[in-house]
Amino acid sequence: MSTIESILNETRIFPPSDEFTKKANIPSLQAYQVLCAEAELDYQNFWAKQAKEQILWHSPFTQTLDDRTPPDYQWFNDGELNVSYNCLDRHLATQADKIAIIFEADDGEVIQSTYRDLHQRVCQLANALKSQNIQKGDRVIIYMPMRIEAVVAMQACARIGAIHSVVFGGFSAKSLHERIVDAGAIAVITADEQVRGGKHNPLKATLDEAMNMNDTTSVKLVVVYQRTGSGIPFNPVRDVWWHEITQGVSTQCEPEWVNAEHPLFTLYTSGSTGKPKGVQHSSAGYLLGTKLSMQWIFDYKPSDIFWCTADVGWITGHSYVTYGPLAMGATQVIFEGIPTYPHAGRFWEIIQKHRVTTFYTAPTAIRSLIKLGADLPAQYDLSSLRLLGSVGEPINPEAWMWFYEKIGQSRCPIVDTWWQTETGCHMIAPMPGAVPLKPGSCTFPLPGIFAAIVDEAGHDVENGKGGFLVIKKPFPSQIRTLWGDPERFKKTYFPEDMGQGKFYLAGDSAYRDMDGYFWIMGRIDDVLNVSGHRLGTMEIESALVANPLVAEAAVVGKPHEIKGESVIAFVVLKGEYPRGEEMVQITNTLRDWVAQEIGPIAKPDEIRFGENLPKTRSGKIMRRLLRALAKGEEITQDISTLENPAILEQLKHPSK
Ligand code: PRX
Repeated sequence: MSTIESILNETRIFPPSDEFTKKANIPSLQAYQVLCAEAELDYQNFWAKQAKEQILWHSPFTQTLDDRTPPDYQWFNDGELNVSYNCLDRHLATQADKIAIIFEADDGEVIQSTYRDLHQRVCQLANALKSQNIQKGDRVIIYMPMRIEAVVAMQACARIGAIHSVVFGGFSAKSLHERIVDAGAIAVITADEQVRGGKHNPLKATLDEAMNMNDTTSVKLVVVYQRTGSGIPFNPVRDVWWHEITQGVSTQCEPEWVNAEHPLFTLYTSGSTGKPKGVQHSSAGYLLGTKLSMQWIFDYKPSDIFWCTADVGWITGHSYVTYGPLAMGATQVIFEGIPTYPHAGRFWEIIQKHRVTTFYTAPTAIRSLIKLGADLPAQYDLSSLRLLGSVGEPINPEAWMWFYEKIGQSRCPIVDTWWQTETGCHMIAPMPGAVPLKPGSCTFPLPGIFAAIVDEAGHDVENGKGGFLVIKKPFPSQIRTLWGDPERFKKTYFPEDMGQGKFYLAGDSAYRDMDGYFWIMGRIDDVLNVSGHRLGTMEIESALVANPLVAEAAVVGKPHEIKGESVIAFVVLKGEYPRGEEMVQITNTLRDWVAQEIGPIAKPDEIRFGENLPKTRSGKIMRRLLRALAKGEEITQDISTLENPAILEQLKHPSK
């Protein structure tokens, strides 16, 4: 309730300027409402029309939606297309020499790639992969630095119908191993090292470590892109150099025409169990969603210089780096480094240098940049900007106002975009020329997206009341299944007791205000949102208990000024309760252990030790108490079911 109350106090409202509206793709609230009404009247027809207009079909579809066996929905299923063809070939006749990617390396070197050049590179790698026996339907893991080659690798897979699964370069060998095995990957595309903030981090060596664990025999091929040229071990049977296999290879490659429902990729994300979920997306529906949202939400114009700061290891980097912008024929910036290197003005410098018009980033980045230099942006020329975007977590009104005033100079609308790995593209977000903004609200659903707030039984709740965020009708860009686990897919996203198993349950709580604006309140499951990245508490707990020192662990989130949420672990050791120096040492050991097991992003910020954890008489850990303890709140909740009340005192304070 306190969240609802604090947000309800937000009364500021920012209508788009006349200047913005005049040129906007959707220039009025009425124009937005007309689109929504069209979708409401006949949503299959609405989507069919969009799919025909937006996608180049090799063979047209005749059936829009097959919804005979919910939640296994199929869109445009008898149509055939190729996503890479839709992102590259379609531009060759009209704008082959337009810059597709302006790449800025960590050290400031700039490399540009035109649509012609990008097409050639993708074709060469696609041909090379084919000659190495990679075929349609094969799974290819991509573990790459944030460079043009990461996009080329994804597009090359799409071109030959191979299913890519990108693993974020910050994930550990163990996480990488788990994903390789779950996907049954045939090949991995990686680099010798990645360079961020002046530091070299190994990728190939981490992959080798992953490959030396069990069950990776499915991998027959490892393609290595040479980023730094540092010496790396090479397995002559399995490893090949990217530059060698593509050398002299034809720059033409006939795309593999695939069915609309052919999986374009899987991407692993955290859920409420210890095992990450392989979210599977389709080809046509996904492409349609990313393309439409580029036009509706990013108000795409051919003259734009688009910059989305997300890594391709996350869904945002898939939809708004690799697919959406290229499908539109946009010019975009790709940046290899970090916002603070070599100085805290790097982002603003890049905007100034490349005349960026559309800048899309995460609230956590905004908050850390405020902290590092709230007045720094004033030293740069940010006049090229016309639109700003935010994604990944709720943006607090203070950060929103700073972004609006200091970066957008009170001229640029901010699109606060709510969506998920599973939805593939924006679901609730303002059309910037049409919708007056309220700081902290993602405003209204996109046309054709039937978002609602419901109670446990699936009934609509009235405006002003919190509830579960659902999407009531299927939409083209939605998750198709969880790789290898259709049961978990159904149970997690389409629970029987809500809308008879037909509502997509997002896993967030939210409410609508009296004007119908949506406000996201946070996750309802055991998933944390740390710096805009999803982390399952169970995943971190499993990592902790895998350490020989640990008997039991429980992980909760605590609000954090910059990261949104921070990770707090409550740990019971197998040995004695540690004291003094020993406690410091074990804390460091366990933090490093989690970084090793999952990746540095999952490192607990704080570890508290106890002789036990607060449990009910039936042995269930009472997480709500741990959440209150982490926040330093007095326990005013009912603790009558608690087996061991004395433990609360011990866990109250950070361990010393
Ligand atoms: O809790 C919501 C939050 O991020 C979750 C999805 O995380 P992920 O699949 O990693 O995708 C992030 C990038 C799309 C959601 O369930 N979230 C995402 N965007 C917003 C948000 N919360 C509030 N406002 C947003 N704009």
